[in-house]
Amino acid sequence: MEFVSVCLTLMLGFVHTLFLLSKLQSDTLREAITQITTQAKEKNRNFTETIELQIGLKNYDPQKDKRFSGSVKLPYIPRPKMKVCMLGDAQHVEEAEKIGLEYMDVESLKKLNKNKKLVKKLAKKYHAFLASEAVIKQIPRLLGPGKFPTLVTHQESLESKVNETKATVKFQLKKVLCMGVAVGNCGMEEKQIFQNVQMSVNFLVSLLKKNWQNVRCLNLKTTMGKPYRLF
Ligand SMILES: *[C@@H]1O[C@H](CO)[C@@H](O)[C@H](O)[C@H]1NC(C)=O
Ligand SMILES: *[C@@H]1O[C@H](CO)[C@@H](O)[C@H](O)[C@H]1NC(C)=O
Repeated sequence: MEFVSVCLTLMLGFVHTLFLLSKLQSDTLREAITQITTQAKEKNRNFTETIELQIGLKNYDPQKDKRFSGSVKLPYIPRPKMKVCMLGDAQHVEEAEKIGLEYMDVESLKKLNKNKKLVKKLAKKYHAFLASEAVIKQIPRLLGPGKFPTLVTHQESLESKVNETKATVKFQLKKVLCMGVAVGNCGMEEKQIFQNVQMSVNFLVSLLKKNWQNVRCLNLKTTMGKPYRLF
């Protein structure tokens, strides 16, 4: 009986792996990265273009099906210029100053609490927020959806936490069946872009109810460039 159950578990595991097995061909991905970064170089733009993974889904009903959401930390930071703000207690404010991280202290946060316009402005100004333990309880949903601060404790390095936050990308199904996520930039080596895209795609597929059967198409594109079909 036990043997049968072990075999069954192994088989199910194998079937599951088959579904998750990447359908994204390495050669296709390498070619896409070379194409879009070469195009970007030729245009010689004034800024470092971000590379976005565009995802089209199928067999999903955003009205009925559960809306999924998940985050994954990529090996390389896609947007180094992403703006992070520390909502800090005294110790974290001091550390933030040392590493050149923008911050708000408890006093400024208290003032903010009473002014919705200022809160909106703050939420717009930054891509992400970090908060000390003592502060995080005072900001219940203040900053709106998607901007809820990530907790930082005094036991961890603030700089690593900032890097981790910048390297983390979020996949979230909203009302429509397509989404775009920043997965790299044209200043990165092709190998690094490759690893970031591969990890993003694998993670996304693992989030989907029917894995690859929910993927209609995948494109890669730079900010100003044309989309390149990956799948
Ligand atoms: C390049 O960027 C600078 C500052 O961002 C801007 O003032 C300038 O007009 C830009 N040049 C071109 C050709 O876009
Ligand atoms: C954070 O990232 C920067 C830039 O990528 C790097 O120079 C620095 O060493 C990193 N710091 C930590 C603590 O990981």
